This record gives sequence, structure tokens and C-alpha cells, in this order.
Amino acid sequence: MSVIAREPIFILETKNTHYVVGADPFGNAHRIYWGKKCPIDDYEMPDYGDAESNHGKLDEFFEEYTPFGKTMYRECAVKATFADGCREINLTYVGYETDGNKLSLIFKDVYYPLQITLHYTTYDDSDVIVRSVTLQNTGEGDITLEKVYSAEITLPGTDPYRIMNTYGIWGAEHTQTEALLDGGALVFESRYGRSGHNHSPYFVAHRGADEESGSVYFANLAWSGSFKVHVSRDIYGITRGLLGINDLDFEYVLESGEALTAPEVILGMAEGLGGASRMLNDFGVNHWLPKYFNDKPLPVLYNSWEATDFRVSTDAQSALAKKAAAAGCELFVMDDGWFGERKDDHAGLGDWFVNKEKFPNGLGELIANVNAEGMDFGLWFEPEMVNPDSDLYRAHPDWAYHYPHRKANEMRWQLVLNMTKPEVQEYIFERLDDMLSTYNIKYIKWDMNRPLSETGAENLKHPKMHWYLFTDALYKIVDRLRERHPDVQFESCSSGGGRCDWGALKHFDMVWTSDNTDSIDRITMQKGYALTRPVKTMRAWVTDVNWYNRNTPLAYRFNVAMRGALSLGGDLNKYTDEEIALCRQCTDLYKEIRPLVQFGDLYRLLDLDKDEISAEMYVAKDKSEAALFIATVTPHCIKKPVALYLNGLDDDKIYEFDFDSDHYEKSGAYLKNAGIRLETVQQYYHKIIRIREKK
Ligand code: DGJ
Repeated sequence: MSVIAREPIFILETKNTHYVVGADPFGNAHRIYWGKKCPIDDYEMPDYGDAESNHGKLDEFFEEYTPFGKTMYRECAVKATFADGCREINLTYVGYETDGNKLSLIFKDVYYPLQITLHYTTYDDSDVIVRSVTLQNTGEGDITLEKVYSAEITLPGTDPYRIMNTYGIWGAEHTQTEALLDGGALVFESRYGRSGHNHSPYFVAHRGADEESGSVYFANLAWSGSFKVHVSRDIYGITRGLLGINDLDFEYVLESGEALTAPEVILGMAEGLGGASRMLNDFGVNHWLPKYFNDKPLPVLYNSWEATDFRVSTDAQSALAKKAAAAGCELFVMDDGWFGERKDDHAGLGDWFVNKEKFPNGLGELIANVNAEGMDFGLWFEPEMVNPDSDLYRAHPDWAYHYPHRKANEMRWQLVLNMTKPEVQEYIFERLDDMLSTYNIKYIKWDMNRPLSETGAENLKHPKMHWYLFTDALYKIVDRLRERHPDVQFESCSSGGGRCDWGALKHFDMVWTSDNTDSIDRITMQKGYALTRPVKTMRAWVTDVNWYNRNTPLAYRFNVAMRGALSLGGDLNKYTDEEIALCRQCTDLYKEIRPLVQFGDLYRLLDLDKDEISAEMYVAKDKSEAALFIATVTPHCIKKPVALYLNGLDDDKIYEFDFDSDHYEKSGAYLKNAGIRLETVQQYYHKIIRIREKK
């Protein structure tokens, strides 16, 4: 599996597919083929005839990266202005470089000093390809980039695709949406300075695929800032996707010798939506997530937010920690409220010093108590923010984004720090590094509770570059901290699931999925999350939330939260001994099946919307065992029996398990093709079934 170079044709060979590109001397990089492997001699450079004919023939090209200019009229991948005001890019092919499973195709402008290099990486064990692009100024005079998508992806064939994305909001993140794109364009974007709760920086495309069959194409942008995903189908029936940093108010100026490598795009082709999820899950674990914790099971954690909100103290947290340990937690995270003058959300952000009233002797005693219970300790920060009511703001009002003659919005009584300033980056790094060095902290929950606004960044020669530099600074600070403290886990949170993208997942070990912990809502959100992201990165809490007076049984809540990185977040002080014992039983079970959930293969067995039952099975890589989770989302009693086809097992192995009153000893083939029957189920019906190979 690698790159086969037959200049001007290049074959990117993945586990099961070929992605074939070719460079013509006129500077066009063509996507020649993307699909199951064919004999490589069959791939040829396309002949499009007269490219400059008067109907905009260039628009018919399957280009890998289309610059603005010439007679090309569709959405372009890159637009720039050169020092003399010329706004056209006219490329020519220069050559290529390969290095094992990496390919770089190099183009340069025929006159101006702009070099554009397309990068591709393949992986032996996957059909994922990672793409990126480097734009370099190789001469004198500034080049102003006004639009930089990271990749242009032309989908195979001419029939329309169904395009999937999300249509979420705070409390309902990761809610899927799907539309037939038969003409025109669909745009999914964030303009918030974070990837946000609404649309997601990806697209999934298919033509009626289901969970296990039908070709599915996906592309994820690894970027946590404002983004744009532009998917179009033109009059020639060509469907193209472009993914990149949002071009709204964006510019990036390349001075002499400078280069910008745009955020990466993770694309691939899979069989079925389930196949796409499993491919991305494995790719995340094996090749993408930060090293050290990528292949380690993530702990069962307790988070104090819902139990104590800002009312934290050594005694209150120690009492909770005792209960959390009894419930089987392995890590105790103290959330907001421990620093500065933080009594509520009006003050204190930025003052990352322990509040002396709440913790007169610092955090040492609490951490010792937590450790004595056999748990690691974690702490909440919101490093990118400052409350106007804080010592930090009083000392450095100019550190927050602002325009001199505009009042900056104080959403949640806070302002966003201008992280493009080196002194701001240094302060954030120093505060967190100091806390991590002073105390035995093994986990950071990194929150971000408001979007960017009034983004005056007059410190920069080119202020519009802040859209890139802010997110870049975030990644750099986290990476520096990780380098200094490699055994500390980092969670990305942004008012719930406002920063759950593949950019975050390159720097953080996991994310906070949503502030909505209602388990019925969670089933839908978790399904949406796991469509394109590794399951183990999805923090899922069991809490006492009861927004809809559902009174969901505790075991049901566990059933749902155990399908991700299980966590507890209820007020354990109010739990009875029986409830703590039930928590313990569930966390014990979770620890046994955790390798299946966090590292196994996820099979979604029923159609949640149609069947009103969620049935998800996590199968061990060697197919020796599986954990099947069933939970109804219906308020009704369903009398109609439902057949559950257990996809994902080994056809030839015999499995045994008990389900309702029946004992099963059946082959994987039988369980897949004949299935098992789910008889009458009612509201809050839930089951976890362990299926094991018969020895
Ligand atoms: C928003 C997060 O999503 C919550 O989990 C909690 O950490 C609060 N912020 C604290 O202010």
C-alpha cells in the first residue's frame, strides 16, 4: 500500500481502493479515478480537448485544487492577490515527491512566485487518505490569500448524491441532516471562530447507502475554527466538495519566503455508513489521536459540575469523591469555580490561581483525598477567556479582542482573549503549566464558552489573519503543555459539544459531547457523533438531569452512557446505597466491556427513527465477543416483534448468550441472517447482552 508514481499519473493505493491523480502541463491536477482497485495500466490522463472553449470547459475538469482565474466559473479552491494587484493564479506543473506512502504534487504560477503543493498520505490498514495543501511565496512581494480551501474532492459518477451533515444547536449537537443534492450547492459553515454546535466541518455523501451496503464517501476538515464546507452539483452532473477555513473576513498574507499549510482533510470511501464509522474510528485510534492515550482505555470519570456547579470546596468535593470511588470511578474532575473570585459566571475567568476562600490551603488536600480513594484528579479551565471582572482584565484590558471604538459583546459576562498575542499565549501556557507542575493533576477539561466577536486584532500587521492564528495558537499551547506533561489527558469542551472536530481530536484525547445529558436525547446525538468520529473520544455522563420529567431509570442511563467514554455526573450525595451499588455494578461491567466499546467495531443494527429502538453492537476486533446494547426511545409499548440481525460477528464462529428467557448457541452466520427476535418492548426497555464465542 503506497504511492505508485507513473508520472504524470499517480496512484494512491489504500487497503481496498485506488485514488488516482494526474498532473497536466497546464497546471491542472486531475482526479482520474476513485474507487475499488483496478489494474493500474487502465488509468489514463483525461483528454478534455480545447480547455479554453467558450463554454467554460475548465468547469468540467475533475480538478484536485482549482485556483481562481481563466475561464473557470465555479467555486474555486484558492484565490489570491499578488503584489501588483493581479488576482489570477495560472499554474504549471513542476514535479512530484514521494516518500513511502506520501505524495506531493508541486505546481507553481507561471509568472508570480506562488508555489502550491498538494500533499497526500495513505495508510496500509485503511482506506483513509489525508490531504493538505501548502502555499508558499518563493519570491519578493506579498501574496494575499483571500480564500484557501484545504481540498477539492470530485465524487465519482454523475448521478446526484445524498449529502449528510449536522443541523444542531446547544443541547442538540450532532443531529444529522441529509439532503439530495441534485443541483446547485449546499454550504455548511461556522462563522463563530470555533467549529460550533450547528453544522460540522465534514460531509458524507452516498446514493442511498444503508448501514452495511452502498458506497459512502466522506471528508472531514481538521479545523476547530470557522470553517466552510461547500458541496455542489453542476450542470454536467459533477458533484464536488470543498472544505477549508471560512473565507469570511479571512486573509493570510504570505511575505517573501513564507508558507501556509492549510488544515488537513481526512477523506475516504467505505461500504455502508457503518463501514465509514468503523473506518474513521480505527483511523482515529491508530493514526490520528494524540499519542500516549490513543491506544489506552480512557478512564471512567466523575465530573462535579451538575452536582455542585460553582460551589466547590475541599470538603464538598472530597465527600463527592468518596462516593465517586464507591461508584467505581477512576478519575475525579473538579469543574468550574475553583479559581479567582469565581462565585458564579460573572467573575474570575483568567485568574487561574486557586481561590483562597474555597481552598485556604490550595488544592493539595483535595487531590490527596481523591488519590487516597484510588482516583486520579482532573481540573477545569477556560483558558481562552477573561471576565471583565478579573484581575487579569484589570491588568491587561488590551489582551481581549476589541476595537477601540466599539463595545465588545460580553456574552456570558466574558470576553475572548486575543490569542494571536505572544504575551497572551505565554500567560495561558505559564498558568496551566504551573498548575500542572504544582499539583498532581492528570486531566484537563479545556472549556470555551462563547464564540468570537468584535475581533479587532490591531497587534497584527494583517488583522484578518487572526482567524487562522487564533486556532493555531490554541493547538500550539495544548501541544506544548502535552509535551511538558505527557501523562495528562486533555478534554475539549465548548459549551458542550461546540468543538468536536478532527482538528480538536489531533490535540485533545476526547471531547465533551453535549451539555444535554438526557439519555433519550443522547441516543440521537451519540449516533450522530459516532458517524464520523472515534467512539472512545465521546464523553458520556450518567446524570440526574430530568428536563422532560422522564424519570429515566438509572440503569437505562448507564446503558446509553456506556456506549462511549463512560462518566458519572449526578449528585452522588443524594444517591441511596442501592443506587451507588447499581452504579458500581454498571462501572464494573463497563470496565469489562470497555475494550469492545473503545476499541472494537460498532454495528448499528436498527433504524432508530423507524424502529424507535436503539440497538448497537460493539464487536471485538478478533470477533471473539461482542456487547449488544438495546434501549427503546419510544414512549409506547411496541408489541410487534422486531428482528435483530446481528451483523459483525464471524460467520463461522459459534456464539452463546442469554437473551430474555432464551439461551442461544448459534453461528455468526445464523445470527446475522436469521437474527434474534425482540418481543414486546416498552418505554425505557433496556438490555446489555454479552455475546461470547463458545469455546
Ligand atoms: C460548559 C460545559 O459544557 C459544562 O460541562 C461546564 O463545564 C460549564 N461550562 C462550566 O462553566
